[in-house]
This record gives sequence, C-alpha cells and structure tokens, in this order.
Amino acid sequence: MLAGFENKREALIPCLNTAQRWQHCVSREAAAFLAKETNTSLAEVYGVATFYHMLSEKPLGRNVIRVCDCLTCHVKGGPAILDALKEELGIEVGGTTKDGKVSLLESPCMGLCDIAPAIMVNDQAFGDLTPRRVRDIARAVRIGFTRRPSGSKRPRKGGARSKVSA
Ligand code: FES
Repeated sequence: MLAGFENKREALIPCLNTAQRWQHCVSREAAAFLAKETNTSLAEVYGVATFYHMLSEKPLGRNVIRVCDCLTCHVKGGPAILDALKEELGIEVGGTTKDGKVSLLESPCMGLCDIAPAIMVNDQAFGDLTPRRVRDIARAVRIGFTRRPSGSKRPRKGGARSKVSA
C-alpha cells in the first residue's frame, strides 16, 4: 500500500485523502490502520486529519459544497450565497441532506478571491456566484451533474459538463 514512498510518513496525507474519498470521512479504523502502517501515533494521524479542512472525521455526503467565509467573498455576497444553499438543500452548515448526496461546509479562503463569491463542489471551483446560480448548482449536484461556470479559474478539459457523484 505504501510502495513508492521512501518515508512512510510521506504517505500519510495521500492515504488520508484516499480514505476521505472512499469513506467520505477518516474513520477510526482508517486512522488506526494508517498509524500502524506509517509508524506514527494515532494522535499524529488525527493531528493531520483535523488540520486539513478537506478531511473530516464525521461522515460527509457523497458531494461536499464548501462556501468560503473569508473577507472578500463575504463583502461580495457570500452570506446570501450561503443562505441560498441552506434553503435549497434544507440543511445548515455542517449538515448533510437526508439522501446523503450533499454536505454543506464553510471554508477558509480557497484562493478564488478574484471570482468571489466562490464555492467548491468537491474539487471544482465555481465563482462570480449569485443566489440564483448557486441554487441551480445545488440542484445539479443533487441530480449528479453540474456545469462549469464562465469565469472559472480552472476550465475543465473535454466539455462543459462534468459528472458529480450522485
Ligand atoms: S476570500 Fe473567498 S476565496 Fe478568498
């Protein structure tokens, strides 16, 4: 499992990311396994897992929408974006829809300030948002598709549609 890593500790973050993707969280079992495999303590594994906001000990939905709560996004309408998402999804920040498809989280600055207000849907960035656009994105995420908006910093290769876990 850790082949290719000279230092087993270097494997910790990639393995934690894999656990997050597969299990939608870093479970106790995964943390204990990684501690053993990387010759680190369980406390160290949890220290890393709790430092990175992309990792969660709590199970998340199949898709995660992160709303930036930093200054630039805030002054450019971030609170209205968050309210629209909460209303559209019927959940509060930290919650997951009953169908398990979407979790809603706040995030520190994601480096998308030039297209604020911005959100991330899994690993895709969306910016220059309005409450109406973000509602459309939330609905698209729930049915499994989303469209990359104009003004995005990271255009997707191979077409305008991209698959989101449904
Ligand atoms: S302040 Fe929102 S992405 Fe930087």
